[in-house]
Amino acid sequence: MAHIFVSGAAGFIGSHTVDGLLRAGHSVTGVDNFRSGRHENLSAALASDQFTLIEADVAEPGAVAEICGRQPTDAIIHLAALVSVQESIANPELNHALNVRATHLVAEAARLHRVPRVVFASSAAVYGNATDLPIRESAEKKPISPYGAAKLASEALLLGHGAAFGFAVRCQRYFNVYGPRQDPASPYSGVVSIFDRRYREGKPVTIYGDGRQTRDFVSVHDVARANLIAATQSSLASGVANICTGCATSLLEVATIFAQHYPKAAPVAHAAGRSGDIIHSLGAPEIARAELRFRAEVAIATGLAELIRLP
Ligand code: UD1
Repeated sequence: MAHIFVSGAAGFIGSHTVDGLLRAGHSVTGVDNFRSGRHENLSAALASDQFTLIEADVAEPGAVAEICGRQPTDAIIHLAALVSVQESIANPELNHALNVRATHLVAEAARLHRVPRVVFASSAAVYGNATDLPIRESAEKKPISPYGAAKLASEALLLGHGAAFGFAVRCQRYFNVYGPRQDPASPYSGVVSIFDRRYREGKPVTIYGDGRQTRDFVSVHDVARANLIAATQSSLASGVANICTGCATSLLEVATIFAQHYPKAAPVAHAAGRSGDIIHSLGAPEIARAELRFRAEVAIATGLAELIRLP
């Protein structure tokens, strides 16, 4: 069994990743500064004696290295980040500190403590407005936000460090992740989390545009499993892979599934399309299939039903 360091452990993807690692029998040191992470996300993990939680800021020089030095670490899963594209536009300096500088510090910690493997939370945002679908990893990378640029820069920082200092790096380009524990707080939160809250509160949801825009919605359970594979398969060489389903789902389809579960809900409201919104986003899942042997298993209807059933 391996010992894994998870940054951003109390976040949406982080906490599910920790839960998956513990279920598979690994021991985990989780770090979070609770800027966007939440203690309650870790309520299951904290009951395990294989889990250690440390409140620390990975953007603080030396913090990750100090923690990694406490015991041999088989892999770092680096998920801590400024997660909002809008916030990266409002505060590019903070985006650089939390999404670029922090990644360099993680790469340095891996070098200093000879951690053999780093898994990084990258994003489909590195592709920008790609129109040639499905989007392959080799597609042109043209980020259109400081957030997307930081994710692309971080991939390069980690891959360069890994090649020079002899550790494997897996960059996981997540598409539209949804599921339990996703924060619906901002108007720019993931659409599924916003819809879930609105239907629960009996309020109408708003679709921006005609609702025919499509996304590759991938369940956080699948994402957590992809992270576990990337962190624990020691034969895996460095590389980049989309973490997606390869299936396009329109917003109208998402709203229809919700409406089936909430037959008395108010009808969907429509508003003008959001400026800068891309119409279609769809990932090519083949590299993850070939290299990670990962295939997303949760169909959108199943994933939404699980979310809706939660108390
Ligand atoms: C997502 C990411 C973003 C990334 C981009 C490209 C999230 C929250 N955002 O944006 O970080 O840069 O992929 O990879 O994961 N919508 C509604 N009603 C609502 C909310 C949203 O109709 O109440 C629409 C949006 O206009 C959009 C679609 O739903 O057309 C999806 O929106 P969203 O969940 O914000 O994700 P992306 O726009 O794909």
